[in-house]
Amino acid sequence: MSIKKNGKLRVVLAGCGGITGAWFTPALERGDIEFVGLVDIDLERARAKQREHALDKAVVGTDLGEVLRQTSPDAVFDCTIPAAHRDVTLAALKHGCHVLGEKPLADSMAAAREVVRAAAGSGKLYAVMQNRRYLPEARRMRDLVASGVLGRITTLNADFYLDPHFGGFREEMEHVLLLDMAIHTFDTARFITGEDPVSVSCHEWNPRGSWFRHGSSAVAVFELSGGTVFCYRGSWCAVGLSTAWESEWRAIGERGSAKWDGGITMTAQILKEGGAQGFQHEKLDLEVPPPPELEHRGHGGAMDDFIRCWREGGTPQTVCSDNIKSLAMVHAAIESAGSGNRIPVRW
Ligand SMILES: NC(=O)c1ccc[n+]([C@@H]2O[C@H](COP(=O)([O-])OP(=O)(O)OC[C@H]3O[C@@H](n4cnc5c(N)ncnc54)[C@H](O)[C@@H]3O)[C@@H](O)[C@H]2O)c1
Repeated sequence: MSIKKNGKLRVVLAGCGGITGAWFTPALERGDIEFVGLVDIDLERARAKQREHALDKAVVGTDLGEVLRQTSPDAVFDCTIPAAHRDVTLAALKHGCHVLGEKPLADSMAAAREVVRAAAGSGKLYAVMQNRRYLPEARRMRDLVASGVLGRITTLNADFYLDPHFGGFREEMEHVLLLDMAIHTFDTARFITGEDPVSVSCHEWNPRGSWFRHGSSAVAVFELSGGTVFCYRGSWCAVGLSTAWESEWRAIGERGSAKWDGGITMTAQILKEGGAQGFQHEKLDLEVPPPPELEHRGHGGAMDDFIRCWREGGTPQTVCSDNIKSLAMVHAAIESAGSGNRIPVRW
């Protein structure tokens, strides 16, 4: 990739649905992105976004290839549905564009591998919107674990309990929790530990009274490459006492533990040097260093990482060749739930 690009990043955005609010706000605030095209298979949706954000000069259409030919952008922002991510990315790469796409990077492992190969062969970037990596509190948890103050990590737990009524496709789809949501939590586990997934054993079910058709709850136990065991317990039909969308976390190390509520609260305890060695050894409440100040967070953070690499060279954190490991966790968990076996995680 060429080094030091100045000027605006010229972008075509494909898929003008619900999530684009999280994209347009940080993109337009930055001032260094020009939306030169908007594409949706439903033309009225693209027009509505054009009106909403006063993008009068943007070419609007239903055919991505045609809009790319007319506008020759630097990048495509892919906000389409998962089933379209492969085709949108391949078309964008073919037109010489970099791609920042919504999660998941593709809707199957075969499609994901194809796209990762195509990105490598094109010399262009394909990064995935795994926005939770760019939350200051997730960084805080990762930094605490990496500091070694808890000793070497042995166990990481994430609890995810909510009861959203989405209506629409989610209430009909198979493996809804694992496919549509768990990738965020699985990716955050990789982020916090810095370890790769090795294998998984998963049980998936749809509890009595569920308003989803399939798979709204799951428990998955992953073995990670550093020996850490990552335990995920999740449900989208757990009524009451909701956790944060970012999950509730506990990291256990050889010398101490840390808890993060998924919001702004983090607590930690470690063994006290020279403390009493009774039935339970004496602990010390740790003052956890504050989260880092991030200029861009969430969707805006991933966008900033992508643009910085476009301008200066380098690799975004959520580059597809790494992000495929999080997708592989999802698909291995689904395979394990179906077979009842522990499954190796391969990408
Ligand atoms: N990162 C997050 O926190 C987060 C949150 C919600 C959704 N998402 C992801 O964002 C993506 C979109 O979700 P959404 O909730 O906005 O869905 P949505 O259904 O509201 O919008 C998708 C849009 O894509 C359009 N579309 C479908 N196929 C297309 C194609 N081939 N070319 C152009 N347009 C096409 C649809 O007409 C629709 O307007 C999904 O991959 C979803 O998983 C991510």
